[in-house]
Amino acid sequence: MDWVTTDRISGYAGKTVELRGWVANKRSSGKIRFLLLRDGPGVIQCVILPDRVSADAFELADKVPYESAVIVRGEVREDKRSPGGFEITVSDLKLVSEAEDYPIAKKDHGVGFLMDHRHLWLRSSRQVALLRLRSALTRAARQFFDEKGFIAIEAPILTPTSCEGTTSLFQVEYFDRHAYLTQSGQLYGEAAAMALGKIYVHGPTFRAEKSKTRRHLTEFWMIEPEMAFWELPETIDLAEGLICRLVEETLRSCSQELEALERDRAALEKVTPPFPRITYSEVVDLLEDKGVPFVWGNDLGADEETVISQAFDKPVFVTHYPAVIKAFYMKRDRNDPRLALAMDLLAPEGYGEIIGGGQREDSLDELEARIAEHGLDRDPLEWYLDLRRYGSAPHAGFGLGIERTLAWIAGIHHVRETIPFPRLMDRLHP
Ligand code: 4AD
Ligand code: MG
Repeated sequence: MDWVTTDRISGYAGKTVELRGWVANKRSSGKIRFLLLRDGPGVIQCVILPDRVSADAFELADKVPYESAVIVRGEVREDKRSPGGFEITVSDLKLVSEAEDYPIAKKDHGVGFLMDHRHLWLRSSRQVALLRLRSALTRAARQFFDEKGFIAIEAPILTPTSCEGTTSLFQVEYFDRHAYLTQSGQLYGEAAAMALGKIYVHGPTFRAEKSKTRRHLTEFWMIEPEMAFWELPETIDLAEGLICRLVEETLRSCSQELEALERDRAALEKVTPPFPRITYSEVVDLLEDKGVPFVWGNDLGADEETVISQAFDKPVFVTHYPAVIKAFYMKRDRNDPRLALAMDLLAPEGYGEIIGGGQREDSLDELEARIAEHGLDRDPLEWYLDLRRYGSAPHAGFGLGIERTLAWIAGIHHVRETIPFPRLMDRLHP
């Protein structure tokens, strides 16, 4: 007998199959027992009739605790009313492993409790939908770059330097020295772009940020493209194309997940090119118009980003930030050296920044000056300066934060549900 999973069940109508999974729910009606079997790809209702199974199997259906692992055999029947459109008329039910009292009940639990039980919480339909969506998003992002001829490269996790400021570094012992967990693969991506032209790094990144907000994780994943001989405008076009692709792909292939998450599709359908592009200085004017007190030269915080992203129903690019609030590697604007050729993409509906990037400083002298101004240790960056000594070329790139992008596309409040095992300032368990 074939072991079939629920995603393949439609090909087996009228046939007898075996399913393997967990008891997600059960109920009875007179002499009939119903088990909702969860097998990973989906759920299916199993109907147990006393005259179709052994007495032992019928008793098991009555008593089996939630989340026990079971093997079900039975006939596949098309039934428009059941979840997934098919049902199983059970001929045999076997216990693989009886579950103890399952701690996650159907009733509402607090977030702290659910986070403590994250290893079990993952089984709930909402979390399954989020993880499936996450997988679809990273696949679509990688495909987007692969199709355009980008080469995937890996950047190290253990690094000798900071990339995004020294205040958010995780320091680890590295034999008789210190190393830091990477904040971004960018600097290594730049080296690889000089070797391969167009590359992307997809990997985990770490920030010891003391921020307890709905947008901050201490461990998160980025996709970071880097392109030799590209400048800021075409880099913005690339980011716009990527976001449109991710949203299109979600709408096309993740309808079930969006439904499970009760996501408003109309909001996503508005995400079409072109996205508005405004400069930091225009943002300052916009904030003033909205009556939000803000001084030119300050960094945009979550509150300001929320106001800006609520002013548009599409993602919006903000460019040309004051150089002093951006990282050391940003190229200055030739027309106004106070400004960096930086770009951030703010997601709509109040989600805020999901992409950060821009054009890189390609002059050795300028870069040396920036490293000194930022008070960075130059020795561990000598290799990076070599990229400007040996055939320096204009180049640009950006980093897309997977978790923030998923939070927006899924329409969920907090990034902690966008990654299987979130790491937050106050959470390292499980
Ligand atoms: O804007 P950031 O700091 O840019 C960089 O790291 C560049 N080196 C990327 C590059 O140009 N290759 O971070 C990029 C993105 C942010 O826009 C955000 O989506 C995400 O990474 N991000 C975080 N996501 C979750 N938790 C955090 N603490 C995050 N910090 C940044
Ligand atoms: Mg940023």
